[in-house]
Amino acid sequence: MANPSTSTLIAPSGNPLTLTTAWDVLERFGVALQQCDQSAQQIRLVLDAVRESLDADAVFWYPGSGSEPFNIAGLATLSSQWCRDFTERVLAETPGVDGQLLRPTLDPGSNPLTPWPTSAVLVRISKSRSSWVVAVTFDAERSFQVADVKVMTLARRMLLNHRQQVASYEKLKDTLFGLVRCLTAAIDAKDPHTWGHSERVARIAVRLGKQMQLPGAVLSDLYLAGLLHDVGKIGIRDSVLQKPGDLTDEEYIHIQEHPVIGDRLVSNIKQLEHLRPGVRNHHERWDGKGYPDRLKGEEIPFLARLLAVADSCDAMMANRAYRSALPTSRIDAIMTAGAGTQWDPRIIDHFMACRDELYPICQRGIGDSVFLAVERALRATDETSSRKSMQAARVAS
Ligand SMILES: [Fe+2]
Repeated sequence: MANPSTSTLIAPSGNPLTLTTAWDVLERFGVALQQCDQSAQQIRLVLDAVRESLDADAVFWYPGSGSEPFNIAGLATLSSQWCRDFTERVLAETPGVDGQLLRPTLDPGSNPLTPWPTSAVLVRISKSRSSWVVAVTFDAERSFQVADVKVMTLARRMLLNHRQQVASYEKLKDTLFGLVRCLTAAIDAKDPHTWGHSERVARIAVRLGKQMQLPGAVLSDLYLAGLLHDVGKIGIRDSVLQKPGDLTDEEYIHIQEHPVIGDRLVSNIKQLEHLRPGVRNHHERWDGKGYPDRLKGEEIPFLARLLAVADSCDAMMANRAYRSALPTSRIDAIMTAGAGTQWDPRIIDHFMACRDELYPICQRGIGDSVFLAVERALRATDETSSRKSMQAARVAS
């Protein structure tokens, strides 16, 4: 890149190098960065992008006190020692060098390094660790220009924005993971007779979803919605929830409030908001006689229709205070009879096709599966904002 006053620049080879080329490189860099959580890979990406954008002889990472290893793109003949010596000498002798253009006036001093660049740009990545990205060129015909500095500072901003985004994402993921675990544990604690029910429903729903060949994102939703489907029971009186005998009419109406309470709770968590239909409508019936909204047939959200099958399956398999677990032959008969009245007949067809694998599903601890499901939910939420990150970086730079 040479003349900042025009949009067409001449590379030393004589091939035209346009500003469009630099933007294209940065655009590719931004896309690649979005897929990259590892620090070493991020560094590699930024070095390659800067080198390609600036047509620099070499671009290297000076780690300062950071733990990232030295890394270089371009001239393999430059040793890590040379890169270290050069950076430290410039930093010691040129105050305020961050984002400045160092051109042939670069003074090699009385003890010159060999080779000595004709121009260089240093941009600081971390103040606390004193890590830098350094671009150098050795050909007087292709000295860096102001536009090169702009491109390099933009690449830095993109990297720093992305690192900040990754850190926030990890924090949010941990928080959400903890929240889902906490809510699931709270449901279990409220009703010890159904301990582990949420986890089993989640696993049954996922297995059923796989039988239906649903995509991974839907399976994640099924898992989380299964865990949370009864979260509204937190708002139900213990005396009703744990009552071993028949419920009074008033108690029955009270317990039927749990899907609406759950819907309200989940609506407060933006990243899980899309699970609300599964939570609110998992007690609807195909014939419209369910609750709370008395939806009918395909009016019932798909997530809720599938959870209704998984929920009933686990309820019938489990021992309860007032009855023992039903034999699988009895469950088969109930499910078949309820297809088209209580449950979506198409889902029951799939249920019957894989029921031998559904029945043995037993409660286990919440492990990686919930963590992955939370991650997928977050990624879906973040997709829109990440697409805007490069534009934001451009504006900010
Ligand atoms: Fe329920």
